Amino acid sequence: MPREPAAPAIAGGSLVVDTPVAKPVPRRGLVTRRVFILGGFWSGLMLAIVGLAGPSLDFMWPRKLAGFGGPIPVTPDRIPAPEGDPVVIPEGRFFLLNLKPGTTPNGEETPGGLLALWRKCPHLGCTVPWNPGFEFQGRKGWFRCPCHNSTYTREGGVLVFGPAPRSLDVFPLQVQDDKSIVVQTGRQHEFSGGPGNPSRAAAHEPGSETPPKA
Ligand code: FES
Repeated sequence: MPREPAAPAIAGGSLVVDTPVAKPVPRRGLVTRRVFILGGFWSGLMLAIVGLAGPSLDFMWPRKLAGFGGPIPVTPDRIPAPEGDPVVIPEGRFFLLNLKPGTTPNGEETPGGLLALWRKCPHLGCTVPWNPGFEFQGRKGWFRCPCHNSTYTREGGVLVFGPAPRSLDVFPLQVQDDKSIVVQTGRQHEFSGGPGNPSRAAAHEPGSETPPKA
């Protein structure tokens, strides 16, 4: 029942009015409007920050690479026979060579074994094919760039002709216990090509690997 206002009282000659005091209204829920608005503000701010910074963080976050740019396994059945024609490993964008030990027709020394050559031409980046029928300097079988005719030896991708600034680049490889190999691809792993390419061959024996950079 509503409370009736008390009658004014006179105390010591002064008029005293008994004003009713409002009682606090009990809260109906746990979340007040103020908390709700503040929560919405901070949530929106956090979402905006994540939206702006997320793509950059995602780009920089290291992840395991599969395919070109990471380690490429090659099973033994795909490895060329000694002195056989180079084999293309498309997923790694490289040729696999199996060299005979000794001196190449071009005069470079090699211990013999496996060599992985990046197919990217060091001139302007065209993909270099293996051309077994191309005859040059009295021999058949060269890597010959279709763009500006840079020509590389079959015994290590050594540059012998054309505008390329260097020989084909080399990817390091390791021979596994089952004689399969793993080739480390990508620019961060490459060895700059040069006349010493044939000396980077690794024996096709378990535990063997491309000699480290000098
Ligand atoms: S891109 Fe290969 S010779 Fe120019």
